[in-house]
Amino acid sequence: MNATARQTQRAQAIDRTVARIRAIEAEQGVTPATLEQIKQALLELAGHSELFPLSDFPMPPPGAERNNALYRLSEDPDHRYALYAQVSRGGTDTPAHNHTTWAVIVGLQGEELNRLYDHDGQGGVKERETFMVTTGTGIAFMPEDLHSIHMVPEKAVLNFHMYGLGLEQLHERRYYKPKTHDWAHFPASDGIRDLPLPA
Ligand SMILES: [Fe+2]
Repeated sequence: MNATARQTQRAQAIDRTVARIRAIEAEQGVTPATLEQIKQALLELAGHSELFPLSDFPMPPPGAERNNALYRLSEDPDHRYALYAQVSRGGTDTPAHNHTTWAVIVGLQGEELNRLYDHDGQGGVKERETFMVTTGTGIAFMPEDLHSIHMVPEKAVLNFHMYGLGLEQLHERRYYKPKTHDWAHFPASDGIRDLPLPA
């Protein structure tokens, strides 16, 4: 498949998937059960791996300030239903944080370890379990669920991150700082890249 055909087919597959996800949320609301359905829709999209080659999502260059990049695949005009491809050179780590909107992560290539936390009742967090996002697996979070992500250095990772509302709109996220045992403001993401539109 040439690049133009791939771009066209990818855009169509993304549109179909997001339409399905809009309908799931509109008809059934946001619950763990509906997020499971949304995850399934994204796993099916990820199954079309020929539409998402790593080469279509350029990595930040070695030595760049960030070792990961987010590519916007879809977002409604009101910023709902934001789907991104996240690519990392490896070595990406985050502290434990919430999202303030639903979130689903599905793996395409490589491994993204998710640590899941509960509030410990004393203002901190307690790790509950871990989950590996990799090819063919995914995980969903309700708006207040807590997780952190971890990737081993030097191993490329490509996955889908989808949010009920776009990352640039999320101004109230918080992350936990274990050293000082308090919570800090997690600023809205910037630097999100747009993929070239199909010709
Ligand atoms: Fe997150």
